[in-house]
Amino acid sequence: MEIKKVMVIGAGQMGAGIAQVCAQAGYDCLLHDLNEDYCLRGLGVIRKNLARQVDKGKMTQDQMEVILAYIQPSTDLHNASGVDLVIEAAVENMEVKTKIFRELDKIAPDHAILASNTSSLPITEIAAATSRPEKVIGMHFMNPVPVMKLVEIIRGLATDDEVYELIEGMTKTIGKVPVEVNDYPGFVSNRILMPMINEAIYTLYEGVATKEAIDEVMKLGMNHPMGPLTLADFIGLDTCLYIMETLYDGFGDSKYRPCPLLRKYVKAGWLGRKSGRGFYEYS
Ligand code: NAI
Repeated sequence: MEIKKVMVIGAGQMGAGIAQVCAQAGYDCLLHDLNEDYCLRGLGVIRKNLARQVDKGKMTQDQMEVILAYIQPSTDLHNASGVDLVIEAAVENMEVKTKIFRELDKIAPDHAILASNTSSLPITEIAAATSRPEKVIGMHFMNPVPVMKLVEIIRGLATDDEVYELIEGMTKTIGKVPVEVNDYPGFVSNRILMPMINEAIYTLYEGVATKEAIDEVMKLGMNHPMGPLTLADFIGLDTCLYIMETLYDGFGDSKYRPCPLLRKYVKAGWLGRKSGRGFYEYS
């Protein structure tokens, strides 16, 4: 089997980036979301990213138009009937994801691979919502997708070796570095990163230091490119909370309890950069 046509579900910050890198590698790509406005917003982000490359002299205007022509918007999941691979990047919520996978299982061709970009939810459980668990796999891209090299490839309990190899090969084709991990909450990346971010939020919550001071300590002291609170805003505070809840539920260990301040911000709609306000304000 050869992967030629891809559908990306969710045209948010991750989905738009995934569609962009797939199109840049010459894959026909459908960018699917709940309505046309969301699709157009995602396409607008891709256009802006590519235009920046044109401004820097890294690609021509013509090359940009060729890449954009590979991406078509979609608001009808039935469009999955013509694809070889679906990469789901909708919200980090098990109910939403299993509903999407159940529907995709009915629509997508038998040979199609169904991948999820989930940051932390069990691939095995998502796969169990389908009649093809051997063709379900995790492709965990990093944010921002066009810049970050890593893709964690997560094998569910039933994932076929052949499916793993196809996805590993495709990941290399789109210019990324695949790393194989097994299916446990948070995988490797968020098992380690998210408790650090949560602890930074506790540090703020307990008044140990200001948000600026916490970020400065981690930037200058630990040589991190950005502080943990800035990074949380960048990831999205709703996504951070979902991941902490997945770790807490999955391991049943109190060390993973989400900080009440994180919950409060999410309830207030302060979701970070994408909503204009999180720990910091964005214009
Ligand atoms: P986002 O909130 O920017 O985008 C989510 C998109 O999914 C929205 O456009 C929304 O309208 C759409 N959506 C929601 N339900 C849908 C449905 N039923 N059908 C089609 N589209 C639907 O979120 P973001 O940050 O792009 O995250 C998406 C996924 O990627 C999550 O699972 C998240 O955990 C994962 N992820 C996020 C990272 C990050 O740094 N934000 C990094 C790696 C993975």
